[in-house]
Amino acid sequence: MKVAVIGSQWGDEGKGKVVDFLADGKDIVARYSGGPNAGHTIVIDGKKFILHLIPSGIFRKDTVCVMGNGMAVDPESLIKEIEDLRGEGIYVGENLLVSESAHVIMPYNRLLDSLNEKIKGSKQIGTTRKGIGPTYADKASRIGIRMGDLIREDVLKEKLEFILKIKNLLIKEFFGEKGFSFNELFEKALSWGERLKPFITNTTSYMKKAVIEGKSILYEGAQGTMLDIDHGTYPYVTSSNPTVGGIMTGLGVPPGAIDEVVAVVKAYTTRVGGGAFPTEEKGEFGCMLREKGGEYGATTGRPRRCGWLDLVVLKYAAWINGFTKIAVTKLDVLDGFEKIKVCIAYEIDGERTEEFPLNYSDLIRAKPVYLELDGWKKPVKGVRKKEDLPKEALNYVNFIADNMNAELLLVSTGANREHTVMFS
Ligand code: IMP
Repeated sequence: MKVAVIGSQWGDEGKGKVVDFLADGKDIVARYSGGPNAGHTIVIDGKKFILHLIPSGIFRKDTVCVMGNGMAVDPESLIKEIEDLRGEGIYVGENLLVSESAHVIMPYNRLLDSLNEKIKGSKQIGTTRKGIGPTYADKASRIGIRMGDLIREDVLKEKLEFILKIKNLLIKEFFGEKGFSFNELFEKALSWGERLKPFITNTTSYMKKAVIEGKSILYEGAQGTMLDIDHGTYPYVTSSNPTVGGIMTGLGVPPGAIDEVVAVVKAYTTRVGGGAFPTEEKGEFGCMLREKGGEYGATTGRPRRCGWLDLVVLKYAAWINGFTKIAVTKLDVLDGFEKIKVCIAYEIDGERTEEFPLNYSDLIRAKPVYLELDGWKKPVKGVRKKEDLPKEALNYVNFIADNMNAELLLVSTGANREHTVMFS
């Protein structure tokens, strides 16, 4: 079975836990897009791990983790992540493969991410400042450095000499900041290559063989559908394709290599950074959700904006990704509410629509139209069996699944692996 796990909202849906749970028995867990802007939290036996680059299958013995060509990799953070995991007794060796075609987040791209944000002033995207945008921009401009270049000294030298001229011009002349020394950067990049050489390989060919041999694969999405550069709330998006199409371009596998597409749906909505968010609760209620749900960024620690579930977003995401199943996370955070609101449509200048508006200037005028559902009195926190879920909670998750036209796969009732109710 080859299963994709994809965020259906603005990221932070709890994909790490769902991937870790579903990774059990999988031959391969593969990431296809994004980079260390992601923060996938996994709790095992009460111990919390946060992964930024390495796929969440790394804790499973016998699972190979693949970082695909569609990713943007910061070698320094990757080396640190490998060391940190090893320090915790987690094996990282031939079970980790990094695509030689994945793009390298160079230090100048990290700096440019911050400088670009600064210059945007009140129009800031609120990026994670990990260098994502400038790295994907270099990829599109065909001046990017790829992981395979780090282990080919001549290629690296030629490329870096050329690129650094452009970058230093921009950094020094336009932004008035200190540029980068070629020699220092070249030495640094070579040392990353030396450290990471055992992991860098042709992952496209590895994936091809795996698919032909019928291996079980889990495709791990990062960020979420509404942050997709093509389908999200542009320009307040990331610079890659976290949606299902990204699997094919970001790993080099054909559409037939995906059997199931699982949506990860947080029981309410959150967003971190700038951009439209129609169901956002800016007052006391939003703060309460944030505290109850521990809604602080796993990568940046920033407080997340919080609000009610938005079915306009979820139905749109269901179409874009072709979701066949859904995993509802953090249901326990809604424990104790008398009524639960769900946005079923938007009103834009007095006109009702159930279609997600693609034009940003329309989206910012969208007012949510809510339906109220009954909350549940008995808490669902820690529940493991379907029979133990109160009927109102079951009603809520089934309502979401029906609207998304997908089957309910699981419901998460707490951060631990065991706090999971399986449906199918
Ligand atoms: P970037 O990906 O760092 O360029 O940030 C672009 C936007 O995507 C910002 O609003 C970030 O907060 C958001 N973003 C990027 N990665 C994640 C993620 O893993 N979870 C949630 N939001 C993210």
